[in-house]
Amino acid sequence: MYTAKVITVSDRCSRGEAVDRSGPVVEVLLRDAGYDLLPSAIVSDDPDALFTALTESVLEDAALIVTTGGTGFSPRDNAPEVTLAFCDRAVPGIPEAMRYASLQITPRAILSRAAAGIKDRSLILNLPGSPKAAKENLEAVIGALEHGLLMLRGGTQSCAEG
Ligand code: MTE
Repeated sequence: MYTAKVITVSDRCSRGEAVDRSGPVVEVLLRDAGYDLLPSAIVSDDPDALFTALTESVLEDAALIVTTGGTGFSPRDNAPEVTLAFCDRAVPGIPEAMRYASLQITPRAILSRAAAGIKDRSLILNLPGSPKAAKENLEAVIGALEHGLLMLRGGTQSCAEG
């Protein structure tokens, strides 16, 4: 299986003013899906902080990097912009599927601006910040990610075989 790293993006959590509840929820889902977890990180909403954390995660060779938080409309919500600026290639189908699935749960699903993309050999995926939203969004797509990582990391299996 592949390595995964969770990055929580939150001013309040990074300052110790709030407990990170989403990161652990995401980690449980990833562990249950068979991923080996690298140590998680908590960063502020500063774009540079997330950019640096993504850079370090790629250097750690994390196959899957999942961020939680910073996808909404607040002035400090920058996770999608930082992610797409960091990535070589966008993967729009993942957030499309998350919003489609989430729309069956809440009309507010459209307020998540989450993005996904590829940097070198790592797949990066944004999730919203609440534990409920993070769980629902990740559950919608987690089953398809392993096949993408297999292609990204030089596997020989084609989509037709999978
Ligand atoms: N998606 C699901 N599945 N469930 C939710 O409760 N909340 C929405 C949306 N996506 C939600 C969801 C709301 S209210 C917001 S504001 C956006 O995610 C962005 O969340 P963020 O600002 O915490 O990143």
